[in-house]
Amino acid sequence: MKNIVVLISGRGSNLQALLAASHAEGWERSLGLRIAAVLSNRADAAGLQIAAEFGVPAQVVPHLDFTGRDAFDSALARAIDAHRPQLVVLAGFMRVLTNGFVENFAGRLLNVHPSLLPAFPGLGTHRQALAAGVRLHGATVHFVSSDVDAGPIVAQGVVSVRPDDDEASLARRVLEVEHRLLPRSVALVANGDVWLEGNRVRARPGVAAELAVFAT
Ligand code: GRF
Repeated sequence: MKNIVVLISGRGSNLQALLAASHAEGWERSLGLRIAAVLSNRADAAGLQIAAEFGVPAQVVPHLDFTGRDAFDSALARAIDAHRPQLVVLAGFMRVLTNGFVENFAGRLLNVHPSLLPAFPGLGTHRQALAAGVRLHGATVHFVSSDVDAGPIVAQGVVSVRPDDDEASLARRVLEVEHRLLPRSVALVANGDVWLEGNRVRARPGVAAELAVFAT
């Protein structure tokens, strides 16, 4: 069985989408993939309740208990390694990770970001998109590199920006895309259908179409 560890900091709707997909699509039986654990840096993350509902073990590694990023990242890495994961997924994990951590998990660390990277890294992506007047916005799943919200792109989902959109309406539609994009990307990478080669993402023939999602 290949293990997946999911890292969260808050609401956990992407975690919910992953768990729902893994159940609905029978990942354990068909792909030998299991979401083995959820780790959060915050004890009040609502996503911990979602993990409990799905019977997935969850652990809190509170960043405030550590004196610096290195100490926190070491503790986090130990907690992750205990599950010997094939893949680690940042699903709304709101901590910047050290280079050492990122290098340690190179090629098996995925993040979901609510914009069409490289446009709009960082926070407030929907506000940034509205301010820039872009007609297309969306979400990106990428391998994590030492630059924040950069790193080789696995999959992207596009939504069109409507004239009457505000941050909330745009966020809602982008989140729906994230919920389709992340489970698909995780299954493909964990299954070895998509992989990192140097700085390039490679895909087995036939799966490329699944890495671009168009919504309205
Ligand atoms: C998502 O928009 C994700 O792209 C970003 O943080 C948000 C997390 O939402 N990195 P949730 O906790 O998965 O509901």
